[in-house]
Amino acid sequence: MPGGTSRQASFWKPYPLTIDRGSGARFHDIDGHSYLDLINNYTAMVHGHAYPAIVAATQQQIAKGTAWAAANEPQSRLAALIVDRIPSVEQVRFTNSGSEAGALAFTIARIITGRTKLLMARYGYHGSPLEFEVGFFGNEGPITHLATYNDLAEFEAVLDEHGHDIAAVFLEPVMGASGIIQGDPDFLHGVRAAAHKAGALFVLDEVLTLRFSSGGCQADIGIEPDLTMLGKIIGGGFPVGAVAGSADTLRIFDPADMKVFHTGTFNGNPVTMVAGEVSLRELTPDRIERMEHLCKSLQSGLIAAANRHGLPFSTNRYGSCLNIYFSQSAPEFSVLRDDDLLMDRFHLACINHGLFIAQRGLIALSTVITEKDIAEALERADMAMCDVVAETGE
Ligand SMILES: Cc1ncc(COP(=O)(O)O)c(C=O)c1O
Repeated sequence: MPGGTSRQASFWKPYPLTIDRGSGARFHDIDGHSYLDLINNYTAMVHGHAYPAIVAATQQQIAKGTAWAAANEPQSRLAALIVDRIPSVEQVRFTNSGSEAGALAFTIARIITGRTKLLMARYGYHGSPLEFEVGFFGNEGPITHLATYNDLAEFEAVLDEHGHDIAAVFLEPVMGASGIIQGDPDFLHGVRAAAHKAGALFVLDEVLTLRFSSGGCQADIGIEPDLTMLGKIIGGGFPVGAVAGSADTLRIFDPADMKVFHTGTFNGNPVTMVAGEVSLRELTPDRIERMEHLCKSLQSGLIAAANRHGLPFSTNRYGSCLNIYFSQSAPEFSVLRDDDLLMDRFHLACINHGLFIAQRGLIALSTVITEKDIAEALERADMAMCDVVAETGE
């Protein structure tokens, strides 16, 4: 594997870290070190590692077979659960990743509108397909238009000029990869209206944000997208994605009146589906609230620690996710940060002290983390900051 990895976001400088096993809020590497996990696979492992109810459900399913070229009951149950929870959703189409869900949502929009382009936020993240990737790096591409997140006038201007070519507008309700940036509800409603005025579909990417609310951010904001992208927590720790929407929009897949051929060897496989069912059922409003409460404690504890050490520090938090920066104020978007040196040093020091956060400063809690774990995380972060100060002073 180039660089020893198959995934850019799990490559840790100075070399890949190899994990052997995980349980609850912790995992262990092959050298025997243990880590308190504050990333939870970039938000996906919302119940931590080897969550007993998911282990039991998947073991039972694996013994019955793992995939076949026909329907299975777990996929109907998970689809029904999603329909039940998310207000705009009547039907679901499963994929194996959020990236695939994004590509599929764009395919649906292209077929429905007969257009070929998309509009997304500059530095927004909707997965790895090329049309989205250029936007994440701030570039327009052959089929990708960009506008500034939370700037309704800019989105309206692009739609006024290019709307006739734009099949869909993609937005995250809270930008994840760009640093946990909350979308203003008026902005999201405004972009939806402008997309519809231009005859484009409005796609809300809830791959990450479904962990914030049972019905997704759309339920909290009261916004109805044409399509919703899902992933991460709906797979209970297994590869997954989904495009969800109204029965009318998803009719193009109906074999009785098919407009697009979409298939995938492992789409809706029963192992992922039973894991996802447990994951969603056990993500109750109480647990969502508790994760948020603990994330707030962690946030204030980290701010206090940085102050004690005289380090510049700022945070963006939404619900159970936090992005930290070693600068006086958070940059508008993470890619524009100028604290790489301090952040890299802190990240490495955290690993040395058994605390696992993302190199870009993302923290995402799980339902199994306790107040005691948060206190331990703060002690470890304090030691890591000590190291940063010592190293920086040299
Ligand atoms: C908002 C958002 N959309 C799409 C994706 C892509 O999902 P996957 O990594 O499963 O392809 C991600 C992954 O981090 C995401 O955060």
